[in-house]
Amino acid sequence: MIGFGFSRICIYGIFMMYLCCVIYAFDPADVFLIDCGSNSDTQVGSNRTFVSDKSSTKFLSASEEILASTNAGSITSASDSELYKTARIFRGSANYKFSITQSGRVWIRLYFYPFVYGSFDMKSANFTVSTQKNVLLGNFSPKNAVVKEFSVVVSSGDLTIQFAPGSNSFAYVNALEVVSVPDTLIADDANLVSPKGAYQGLTSQAMETVARVNMGGPLVTYVNDTLWRTWLPDSSFLKEPNLAKSVVKIASVRYPQAGPTQDTAPQTVYGSCTRMNSEDDPNSNFNVTWEFPVNPGFQYFVRFHFCDIVSTAANQLVFSVYADSWDVYQDLELSSKVFGGNLATPYFMDYVIPSTDSNILKISIGPSRSSLDPNAILNGLEVMKISNSVGSLSDAISSLPPISSSGSKKNLGMIVGVIVGVLVALVFVIILFCLYRRRKQEQLGHSKTWIPLSLGGGTSHTMGSKYSNGTTVSVDSNLSYRIPFAALHEATNNFDESWVIGIGGFGKVYKGVLTDGTKVAVKRGNPRSQQGLAEFRTEIEMLSQFRHRHLVSLIGYCDEKNEMILVYEYMENGTLKSHLYGSDLPSMSWKQRLEICIGSARGLHYLHTSYAKAVIHRDVKSANILLDENFLAKVADFGLSKTGPELDQTHVSTAVKGSFGYLDPEYFRRQQLTEKSDVYSFGVVLFEVLCARPVIDPTLPRDKVNLAEWAMKWQKKGQLEQIIDPNLTGKIRPDSLRKYAETAEKCLADFGVDRPSMGDVLWNLEYALQLQEAVIQNDPDENSTNLIGELSPQVNDFTHADAGASAVQVQMANLDDISGVSMSKVFSQLVKSEGR
Ligand SMILES: *[C@@H]1O[C@H](CO)[C@@H](O)[C@H](O)[C@H]1NC(C)=O
Ligand SMILES: *[C@@H]1O[C@H](CO)[C@@H](O)[C@H](O)[C@H]1NC(C)=O
Repeated sequence: MIGFGFSRICIYGIFMMYLCCVIYAFDPADVFLIDCGSNSDTQVGSNRTFVSDKSSTKFLSASEEILASTNAGSITSASDSELYKTARIFRGSANYKFSITQSGRVWIRLYFYPFVYGSFDMKSANFTVSTQKNVLLGNFSPKNAVVKEFSVVVSSGDLTIQFAPGSNSFAYVNALEVVSVPDTLIADDANLVSPKGAYQGLTSQAMETVARVNMGGPLVTYVNDTLWRTWLPDSSFLKEPNLAKSVVKIASVRYPQAGPTQDTAPQTVYGSCTRMNSEDDPNSNFNVTWEFPVNPGFQYFVRFHFCDIVSTAANQLVFSVYADSWDVYQDLELSSKVFGGNLATPYFMDYVIPSTDSNILKISIGPSRSSLDPNAILNGLEVMKISNSVGSLSDAISSLPPISSSGSKKNLGMIVGVIVGVLVALVFVIILFCLYRRRKQEQLGHSKTWIPLSLGGGTSHTMGSKYSNGTTVSVDSNLSYRIPFAALHEATNNFDESWVIGIGGFGKVYKGVLTDGTKVAVKRGNPRSQQGLAEFRTEIEMLSQFRHRHLVSLIGYCDEKNEMILVYEYMENGTLKSHLYGSDLPSMSWKQRLEICIGSARGLHYLHTSYAKAVIHRDVKSANILLDENFLAKVADFGLSKTGPELDQTHVSTAVKGSFGYLDPEYFRRQQLTEKSDVYSFGVVLFEVLCARPVIDPTLPRDKVNLAEWAMKWQKKGQLEQIIDPNLTGKIRPDSLRKYAETAEKCLADFGVDRPSMGDVLWNLEYALQLQEAVIQNDPDENSTNLIGELSPQVNDFTHADAGASAVQVQMANLDDISGVSMSKVFSQLVKSEGR
């Protein structure tokens, strides 16, 4: 018995693997398509023929029926319009009987269009439709063209569909469709929303499709759905359309190797979504809600389809999902749900909503409390009513009407249903287990890669042996990032020297364009050395895990032919530094500067807090803050980590890395690196942004050479406004400046313990932005003398010298950073965080 069961499971498992891996044309085991009342066959789309009434009489047993037709033109805009032009009218009870070869779930789609035929006004028809086990429609009286879709479970043998007119009425149907549902489409179990737990037994329930919706995208008809389903656009279900925004990126969808397939939902569904309309407001806090008509007293099966087509990197999107007032899922992070953390990968979740006494089911998505950038998405949704305890889908009919040809097989059907259910559940358990194992192994693989970084080399002081430990780091788990050399050769126009955008110790950085049009920055390493190789691997390992809106992301790498090439997203607007001084670029507004500071603070906060071990950037400076085409700030050069422990054990000053002028004095003194060293450097950046001058300018009088010292002197005197960027004069609200300056001052505290955390810095900067905004919103006519510096004499007597020459970025360990090209350096460090 067990042996038999197990081999069945294996066969099922192999079959399912096959289904998952092969994209096939839908080839249902059983399919019956009937154009009722029609004299001839009707072709719908390229691959479906609804047979004429004459050819279908063999399925029908009815006492009295009438074939009806209408001359109405196009009834629906779809190509199935032809089906509505004829109908079969039943004045007495009528049964369609189909013999089903594959037990399991089948779809029944019933097409209705009420027209007038002789003395029959179909709008007045009232009837009940049922099968042996289920009532599909009770006292039904359609007033418009409609397709009703059900899925019922047929255990073996026949499926009988009965049309029974109400008293003094008649029944009718325009077309009828019975099609097998793939076994894998709907599992036996789902999550119960309330009380939280597992719901089991779907395999034996009939369902009615209430809504099948393609969020943010177009109508998808049977033509574009492998299972001939229809997906409606979501606009008519949205409660407040102004809170929502649609995103369409159909081509970006990549189905995973295991999991959702085209059958689960078509690419058009996964490739479009409705998102929160939150882009203009980082403090957005609202839900996007859809409303669906439901009947009180029924449970509903809800399938949520997700595919993160909005993020540019993993882990950016965290949101919550609700049904009515219940939490469905708090803090859903899609990249943690899909294999490999890939973006644009379909994922779905099944839930059962308990019955309520409401006529409306609300489905909402909203921002997570823990996400920095509020956003939420939904790509598709299926809402299905579940048959009640007597197998009815209609609240009008509380008991099954007898169907002559049925009954005896009910118990057998239930037994087979249960067996099939158990088998399907087992197969899912096995697959889940396999996925879990793989994931676990992957995680193990990852944690292995962390060990050499955080603990390795404790006794070793030579670079060679340290990095040969480092080479145990495996890049194999990141195969998806690998880009062929030929592609990069092409992308950079054969590494055209005129496409070089930067040169650093590591090598040259080229601008490039991949074949799909993506602009990239291609960093090509000098020929392989032991050291370079290890750093290369480490950067790939780390970058592929650090994914954040405010961190420059790694697109891929190439290690063919001894090459060491890293490919990053291209940052259109270059470095923050280049926008502050030393170039002809237009001066940025105070608001813009604040937003850039806030963005970079977010990136750093993420590095410091998002992993079990804090990651310390070690080289925070304006040249390492890059700006994309929308001036969104991203921190760069956080990836190439150096091993840390030696730094704690030796006092060799050359081990201290970072850029002079930004360097934490405590780190310098004690060689002890914590997150607070980054906070110090960031404080220097804040003054740099405010004063728009190099952090070290040797051309200035001695007391002004070092920006940090000079700015602190004026801040302590309470006259910082005397030295701000002349372009900002008269444009900063005093409260905003005060908050900003206080924050920068705290960052520069002598001792790390006295400095705020990056999270606090972020909060204070946001507050400074609000204070600045307040003047515009509440007080548009405020006298401009209230703005900083308007009437004060300028004491900005330093010269805005050419950055290339004057910005002396002394590298204590490495003197080749003069170019200020952010991607040229290696300064991040991973250390074991204390007190975490
Ligand atoms: C449906 O598929 C056709 C090609 O088969 C394509 O041209 C069309 O854009 C698709 N429509 C949608 C809504 O996906
Ligand atoms: C979103 O909806 C849920 C459930 O109704 C509710 O608990 C939550 O407070 C809502 N969030 C917002 C921001 O309105």
